Amino acid sequence: MCGIMGYVGSGKASGIILNGLARQEYRGYDSTGIALRCDKEIKNAKIVGRVSELVKLVEKMPREYLEARSGIGHTRWATHGGVTVTNAHPHESEDGMVILVHNGIIENSREIRADLEGRGIKFKTETDTEAACQLLAHLYKGDALAAMTELARSLAGAFALVIMFRDRPDEIWCARRGSPLVVANSDEASYCASDPTALLEFTHDLFFLEEGEMAVLKPGGVSFFGFDGVPRDKAPIHLSWDSIMADKGQYEHFMRKEIGEQPDVMRLTIDAHTDVTSVSMEKSLNLPKDIIKRIRRIHLVACGTSHYATLLAWNIMESLDCEIEASVDVASEYRYRNVHGGDDTLAIFVSQSGETADTLAAARLARSKGTHCIAITNVRGSTIDREVENTLLSLAGPEIGVAATKTFMGQIGLLALLVMQILKDRGVLSANDEARIIGSMRTLPAHMDSILEREGEIRALAEKYAGSRGFFFIGRRECVPLTMEGALKLKEIAYLPSEAYAAGEMKHGPIAMLDEHLLVVALVPNTDLREKTLSNVAECRARNAPILLISTEGDAEAREHADDVIYLPSVERELFPFLAVIPLQLFAYHVARTLKRDIDMPRNLAKSVTVE
Ligand code: G6P
Repeated sequence: MCGIMGYVGSGKASGIILNGLARQEYRGYDSTGIALRCDKEIKNAKIVGRVSELVKLVEKMPREYLEARSGIGHTRWATHGGVTVTNAHPHESEDGMVILVHNGIIENSREIRADLEGRGIKFKTETDTEAACQLLAHLYKGDALAAMTELARSLAGAFALVIMFRDRPDEIWCARRGSPLVVANSDEASYCASDPTALLEFTHDLFFLEEGEMAVLKPGGVSFFGFDGVPRDKAPIHLSWDSIMADKGQYEHFMRKEIGEQPDVMRLTIDAHTDVTSVSMEKSLNLPKDIIKRIRRIHLVACGTSHYATLLAWNIMESLDCEIEASVDVASEYRYRNVHGGDDTLAIFVSQSGETADTLAAARLARSKGTHCIAITNVRGSTIDREVENTLLSLAGPEIGVAATKTFMGQIGLLALLVMQILKDRGVLSANDEARIIGSMRTLPAHMDSILEREGEIRALAEKYAGSRGFFFIGRRECVPLTMEGALKLKEIAYLPSEAYAAGEMKHGPIAMLDEHLLVVALVPNTDLREKTLSNVAECRARNAPILLISTEGDAEAREHADDVIYLPSVERELFPFLAVIPLQLFAYHVARTLKRDIDMPRNLAKSVTVE
């Protein structure tokens, strides 16, 4: 939610900041703004709309501001206050001393505002952010560190703040509690941003601010402090991601590029964590075997697409062994429930960004109960990576499209292997199951390549059905999580009504909605549940719903049950979802493309949800 960027150095701040904002636009994109400094003057440019339009506005600024050597910028996902130019960041204090951008929610903004208004300070916006801005100006008496310390003490809620003081030309201040901020220094310049992808073109050595830390950026370097004002030493974290990986290349959309990268994600995951026919995660999993043996229950916790990845993992675990009690929860619920915790419990938190507020809160709750925790994230240095004792990094590389695709693939690959490693360490994974699944996993990347080569077929189906009034995704057992992911993708990027149902549940209500305008997408692999699922498909067909089946190659009879069939290569039944997700992603992508949706930046969404 919201992308922020700060720069001070010898380069052209306007271009560097606008470029950084464009790279972070997927974090929020309803409005955007920049503040550029020329000596003691600071000028703001803000618009409702995208960074590309802000670029045009900045081009019209007086030349000296285009040459500015420092500035801050913001791209917004509105929480408090409507989407207007006035509410867009940066905000400026009434006396003009403080110019600030913010990501997060200041929970005591009303009290601060009432207090400052009582002192005669006039507010211009409806935002919670302005309270922080005006308060900082009120506290600032020439000592920035003292004012920042006092500000941090006074604010409740979550914030990443980036600040310019009008009378401190070569400094940019920033502070973090609850919302991410990453800082870097290179070649006579210092930078800060919400997301590492904005800084990779300058350096791969990044300083991730911890909770309760602040920093002052100067052209020659960065100094770090705790919220108590005491200086801190910090070591950079080296991120191996390439900035090219965060570019669209020849593709029209990041999402399409990222769908196509999934075979490589799976290859990398398998290479990193397996030996021929066995799982070997011992090196990356820093959890002693005796703890793993003691565990009596496993909690799988996540949000959105990551939650569906955990449902798949739960399914694999159940398929391989029922000895261990496992439960799946969305983080926004887990964090407020009276969940069991302690030494006999392992909680696995999955978050591609590593910054989702609910998942972080859920992990903190589990840790406070003494539960053993593992995080699965795509971002080294992210908050969850730093807070949870054990992190497994998914190997997807930077994902820019708001709708998760390749990070999902990275998660399910890791989760499948993690589940097997846990069961193996407990001595309950049969050698046969291990070899069966690992052997089949090794065939996945080539199968994925072959599915991607058939994109034209899926695109034609998407164009055929894009006008449907709604969509039902149905399946049984291992396919149920995928019905949810298929429906979510269509909601996210095509804005179409789409529901997911365990196939057997259709007759308990949803079937009443069916007619010839509602497409049923049925996941029917050739397993022991094929006949049962086909009966449910027949029930839908009898209500005139068109049927698109996703089936296993060789099941010629499947055609008799459907209007259209997408055949997928045969793999072990636990892994069918790993292949089936690709046509579902491509289907949603091409439906959205047919409807001319803004695929990489769908309305109302943000990739990194750092508010509750
Ligand atoms: C947002 C994104 C989704 C993502 C979810 C959870 O809603 O748009 O793509 O699945 O957050 O994010 P996380 O980073 O925790 O996996």
